[in-house]
Amino acid sequence: MINSKEGEENSSDIGTIIKIKYEGEINMSYVSVDSLVKKYGELTAVDHISFTVEKGEIFGLIGPNGAGKSTTLNVITTLTDFNGGEVIINELDIQKNRKNVKQLIGMVPQDIAIYDHLNALENVKFFASLYGLRGSNLMQNVQEALEFVGLSDKMKMKPKQMSGGMRRRLNIACGIAHNPQLIVLDEPTVGVDAQSREHILNSIRLLRDRGATVIYTSHYMQEVEEICDRIAIIDKGQMIACGTEPELVSMVTDVLTVYIETKIPLGFDRDVFSRKVKLMPGVKGVSIEGYNIRVDISVEQNSIERIIQEFIAQELPINSIKSEVPNLDTLFLTLTGRELR
Ligand SMILES: Nc1ncnc2c1ncn2[C@@H]1O[C@H](COP(=O)(O)OP(=O)(O)O)[C@@H](O)[C@H]1O
Ligand SMILES: [Mg+2]
Repeated sequence: MINSKEGEENSSDIGTIIKIKYEGEINMSYVSVDSLVKKYGELTAVDHISFTVEKGEIFGLIGPNGAGKSTTLNVITTLTDFNGGEVIINELDIQKNRKNVKQLIGMVPQDIAIYDHLNALENVKFFASLYGLRGSNLMQNVQEALEFVGLSDKMKMKPKQMSGGMRRRLNIACGIAHNPQLIVLDEPTVGVDAQSREHILNSIRLLRDRGATVIYTSHYMQEVEEICDRIAIIDKGQMIACGTEPELVSMVTDVLTVYIETKIPLGFDRDVFSRKVKLMPGVKGVSIEGYNIRVDISVEQNSIERIIQEFIAQELPINSIKSEVPNLDTLFLTLTGRELR
C-alpha cells in the first residue's frame, strides 16, 4: 500500500508548486488526469486516458476485467509510475510532489491488504500511523474508522476469523483512518454479502457527504449507477465515454432492451437461434440466460415483430415480454459490441 520511493521527493519542489490561481477565473478540478499512458512492456494498459474529478464528487471508473481501472488508480495514488501524460491532485503535480500528494490520499486496494497476525484495531493503527498519526490522535482516528465501517465491536478479531465482507470493511478502515481528502476504492464490494455491500455503499456516500472526494471502480454497472455522480467507462485501456448517468444513457436512446421469457425445449440450438436473430436488421445484441432471451434493438428500426415471428416459426412459446429503457449496460454493448461481464 505504501510507496517506498519517498526519498524521491524533492523538498525544494514544495516551494515551487505551481500555485497559479486566477481568483474567480479558473475553477480547478480536485483531480485532473490528462492523456495518461501506462505500459507494461508491449502492453499499453492505460492508453491516453483523460478525466477530471471535482471536489466532493463520487467519480466511478467502470469497465470489464483488464480494462485498466486498477492501473489508473495505482498511478493516481502514486503506487505505480507511468509513461506519459500528467496527473494533478489538489493543484499538485503527482510526479513532483509525491510525498505531499500521498498524504492527501487514502487507497483501498482491490486485493485486500491487511495483516493476518494483527487484529482489526492493530491493523488500522498500523496503516494510520504510516501517515504520521500518533498518540491519542491516532487512537481516536482508528476507533472512528472502525466504527465507521461497523467493526467497533470486532476490534480484537483477527482477519482469519472474519467473513469476506468484514475483511473488506477492515480494508476500507485501514485506507481512511488518516482522514484523507481523496479516497480511492478499487472494487470494494467484490465477494461481499448483500448486507456488507449495502454498508460499504452507504459508507462511501457518507464519506462524500463529509467532504471527501471519492474515486471508485467496479464492474457492476448497477452499483456505479447507484452511487456515482459521474462515470467514466473504460475498455482496453481507453476511455470510451464519460459523464453523468443521464448524459451517458442519452448516448444510446436509440437502443431498446427487450426481455422475452420463453420455454426452451431440450435439444434446441441456442447458438443458431441467437445468430439468426442477431442478423436481423436493427438487432444490436442477443443473449440467452435460462429461459430469458434478451435482445437489444434499435428504436428506429424496431424489429420486434420480426423477432416474434421467429419465435413462432421456431415454436418457442412467449410467456412474457418486457422492455427496458437503456442503461449503462446497453451503452457498453452499443459502444463495444460486447456485454460488460
Ligand atoms: N504488474 C503488471 N504487469 C504486467 N501487466 C499488468 C500488470 N498489472 C496489470 N497488467 C495488465 O494491464 C491490463 C490492465 O489491468 P488492470 O489495470 O488490473 O485492469 P482492471 O483493474 O480494469 O481489471 C491487463 O491486461 C493486465 O493484465
Ligand atoms: Mg482491477
